[in-house]
Amino acid sequence: MSATKNIIIALDEGTTNAKAVALNEAGEVLVKFSQPLSIQTPREGWVEQSGTLLVEASVEVLAKAIKAVGAEKVSALAISNQRETAIGWYRNSSAPLHAALSWQCSRTADFCEGLRRDNLANKIKSVTGLPVAPLFSGSKLRWLLDSVPDGFALAEKGEICLGTIDSWLLWNLTAGESFYCDYSNASRTQLLNLVTGGWDEEMLNIFQIPRKALPDIKPSSGLFGYTKGVNGIPDGIPIMAMVGDSHAALFGHALGEAGCVKATYGTGSSVMAPVNSAQCNIQALATTIAWHNGASLVYGLEGNIPHTGDAVAWMADSTGLSELPQDELNHELNTLPASVENTLGVYFVPALTGLGAPWWADNARGLICGLNRGVKRAHLIRAALEAITYQIADVVAAMRQHPDFTLTALMVDGGPTKNDWLMQYQADLLGCPVMRSDIPELSAIGAALLARNAISPLTQDEMRALLPVHVEFRPDPNRHQQLQQRWQEWRLAVEKTLWQPA
Ligand code: G3P
Repeated sequence: MSATKNIIIALDEGTTNAKAVALNEAGEVLVKFSQPLSIQTPREGWVEQSGTLLVEASVEVLAKAIKAVGAEKVSALAISNQRETAIGWYRNSSAPLHAALSWQCSRTADFCEGLRRDNLANKIKSVTGLPVAPLFSGSKLRWLLDSVPDGFALAEKGEICLGTIDSWLLWNLTAGESFYCDYSNASRTQLLNLVTGGWDEEMLNIFQIPRKALPDIKPSSGLFGYTKGVNGIPDGIPIMAMVGDSHAALFGHALGEAGCVKATYGTGSSVMAPVNSAQCNIQALATTIAWHNGASLVYGLEGNIPHTGDAVAWMADSTGLSELPQDELNHELNTLPASVENTLGVYFVPALTGLGAPWWADNARGLICGLNRGVKRAHLIRAALEAITYQIADVVAAMRQHPDFTLTALMVDGGPTKNDWLMQYQADLLGCPVMRSDIPELSAIGAALLARNAISPLTQDEMRALLPVHVEFRPDPNRHQQLQQRWQEWRLAVEKTLWQPA
């Protein structure tokens, strides 16, 4: 970066808000702006967001950040985005075909069930690395084409564009001059061949998506285009990185170094580990492209858990705790679990909409077991927090089957990680250090680093020096031994969730 143009503005376009963060050469956050986003649920299981509002919110925060630091100092933009969310638009007018279908949306569950019935699940997993599920974009893009007259025919003629949120933002930031997506986002569509790194003909046929409607794929770190014609954003700023948010967080924690496994604790959790190849026989986990660093593809192993922070929220609701003002609620959640020695044998398996990785049981039902007369609210809240750690341990256990997998530290981020008790429990359970980033902008930092490296390549040591500091929670070996018994009991409880009432 030149001495004068030394600031990168990273956009983190998530499900609940769009954030823009300005970072200087030392990797320090100079300013940040955030804009909340709304989510619509027109029917049970249907989740969507206005594509227009996603762009407006993103432009607004970007414009504020650029203005705050001075446009003349901005060397590049970088984008980290919510993954799997699918959108389609008319090439000529840029008008969306429909609202964006959120990653959380399950309206294509029946289509996916059809794929399983047709015995395509193994084929799809072997080519794309992903299990058949409405989460991924392929079935959503198919649905979007069906939502407009002549959708398929127009897409075949190249008059309709289909993409993930990175492509949609890029299109809008460049006045339609750039139509690309990055490898990490492409790998979440279920249309990408993980080995060749190209759109896969067979998958395009299965999902009935014309190639002409899809963007070309570019490395996550590199030039995607220049800003043009956007209110509040000067023309000509290069966009130098695009990457899925979870992948960006993995990069922002430790650059994807072997042994550093990332876990984001949010409503649910994404656990991601860097691996050397796309080959993976572990059905319970997804293989994905972590990023393309400009020189080569880096793969990732991922397990998604639907209810972690949400399990605690559910328990707080169910025990009346959530009626407290937010500050008091946070205080209680932080102090209650440590106020009791254990859960008195209670386990809570939060299969509230089935179980995700590594169990993948759509029909599993949640369970609280081991209740006895002495159980109080503190034990139940503790059981909900412990459930987070056991679920993460279950995914890590599945990852251990991969020949490339090593675990030297679990790098963690997200709201619930502020709870020191939870972090220590996680470290003791896994028997490895848990490294907490206290900077909430990890995805933005990861995307900015990828952009920075594209502008002028840095050595690994130079990049390491730019990473945020972590707080370490070291495992206690004795406690690690004790907790193995608890973890085995948890697994017995998980088995019971497969029971369903008639
Ligand atoms: O896979 C979905 C994920 O990318 C969503 O991220 O930050 O919007 O919760 P976020």
